[in-house]
This record gives sequence, C-alpha cells and structure tokens, in this order.
Amino acid sequence: MRKIPLIQVIAAFLLMGMWAGASGGISWLLLHRWSGAGPFLYFAAFAVAWVIVGVGIHRALMAFFPLLEGEVPPGSRQEFIYHVFYLPFLFFLFYPLALPKMIPIPLTRLFFWCFGARLGRNTYPGACMIFDPHFVTLGDNVILGYQSSLIPHAIEGENRLSHTPIRIGNNAVIGVNAVILGGVTVGERAVVAAGAVVPKSTVIPPREIWGGLPARRIGLVE
Ligand SMILES: CC(C)(COP(=O)(O)OP(=O)(O)OC[C@H]1O[C@@H](n2cnc3c(N)ncnc32)[C@H](O)[C@@H]1OP(=O)(O)O)[C@@H](O)C(=O)NCCC(=O)NCCS
Repeated sequence: MRKIPLIQVIAAFLLMGMWAGASGGISWLLLHRWSGAGPFLYFAAFAVAWVIVGVGIHRALMAFFPLLEGEVPPGSRQEFIYHVFYLPFLFFLFYPLALPKMIPIPLTRLFFWCFGARLGRNTYPGACMIFDPHFVTLGDNVILGYQSSLIPHAIEGENRLSHTPIRIGNNAVIGVNAVILGGVTVGERAVVAAGAVVPKSTVIPPREIWGGLPARRIGLVE
C-alpha cells in the first residue's frame, strides 16, 4: 500500500478539523437556546451536520480540484487531491454509511448522487456497492443485484493507483455478487450473470449475457 506523506496527513487532519468545527458549530447554534437539549440530541445534531457539511465540502472540493480518471502518480498534484480532498470523505463519511447499507433504498439515488454518481431514471443502487460513485454512470431502469460491486479504482502492486469510469447502459442487469472492474461498459439490456467477475475495460455489447470468472459471453437476451 502507498505510504501517505506526512504533509498530506497533516493537511487532511486540518481539513477534517474544519469539517468537525463547522458541524459542531452548526449543532450548537441550533440547540444552545433550548435548555432541554441533552448530550444525545447534541450528538444526533452533530452527526446530521457532519453528513450535510461533509457532502457540501466534498462536492465543492471535487468541483474545484477534480480527481481525474487515469493514474494517480506518486508525488503528483492528483495524489495530493486523492489523499487530502478525496480519501477523508470516503473513509469518514461515504464508507461508514454505504458499506453497512445504512441508507434506505428509496434514498440511495440521492445518496450516490451526492457522491458524484450519474444516475438514469428509475435506477436505485440500493443493494449493491458502488466504490467511487464519482466515476460511475448508470442508465435508466438498471438492476443492480444484491452484493454486486462496481469498482472503478484499481490498486495494483505497491504504488499503482488508477481510476477508470464504469458505464452501465439502460435496462441492464448486474447479477447478485457480480464484480464490475474499472473501465467496463455494459451495453443496453445486457445481463451480467450472478457471481461474474468482469475484468477491467471489458465492453459487453447490448443484449448479451456474460458470466463466469473472468466473464465471457454465455448467451443472448431474447
Ligand atoms: C446468467 C443467467 C441470466 C442465465 O439464465 P438463463 O438464461 O435462464 O440460462 P440458463 O440457466 O439456462 O443457463 C445458460 C448457460 O449459462 C450458464 N450460466 C447460468 N448462470 C451462470 C452464472 N451465474 N455464471 C456462469 N454461467 C452461468 C449455464 O451453465 C448455461 O451454460 P451451458 O449452456 O453451457 O449449459 C442467470 O443464471 C443469472 O445469473 N441471472 C442473474 C439474476 C440476478 O442476479 N439478478 C439481479 C438480482 S434479482
């Protein structure tokens, strides 16, 4: 795993300190006049403010300092953006809510949209896990099976880190436990079988059924 330079660790903690300060300040402003507010209410208000402020800061940072697709070379500006402006929000906001599936299914559109996913109509990515939503585009009426994973990042070897967008076409089905790696395009109405692993940069043409490890064409949607 890549070692994070000390200066970037300090910068990330400073940013998180500001995030915590803003969240604490907002909860205090909302509650301090109310004598009945106890520690539990303060904690709940802080948690809600932490999520809202965090999403706001994350979106603003990604707008001004975008994390680009492709390699994140050691020592680069992109590495600074990744470690300081991106990872803290992944580790202290996105993963704690997304991995235990804390978000009610009807709210998953809003949730993944907040973290940068582009979502078509009637697509609810509730049962799956989208790592790096920022790099994922889902079409209309996409079905994402339970425990399927969309993983746009590739951490390979000691130092290689890259992000490649994933695109899932309209009406496609991603089966339960399927794994979709970076750079994959799934065509309209295509089906990825349960348990399939679709290797990096694979293009699945429309209406084809792909399954296995690594995934290969196993059929055609009638
Ligand atoms: C891939 C899938 C669509 C095939 O269903 P089907 O069209 O009814 O086809 P069959 O079950 O008759 O199987 C057709 C071939 O695909 C193979 N196959 C079926 N499921 C497979 C899977 N999960 N992985 C690899 N191969 C699979 C079969 O072995 C068979 O191969 P053969 O022709 O060499 O004998 C289905 O098995 C599947 O995985 N659906 C995913 C459903 C899902 O998870 N939806 C989202 C959540 S609800």
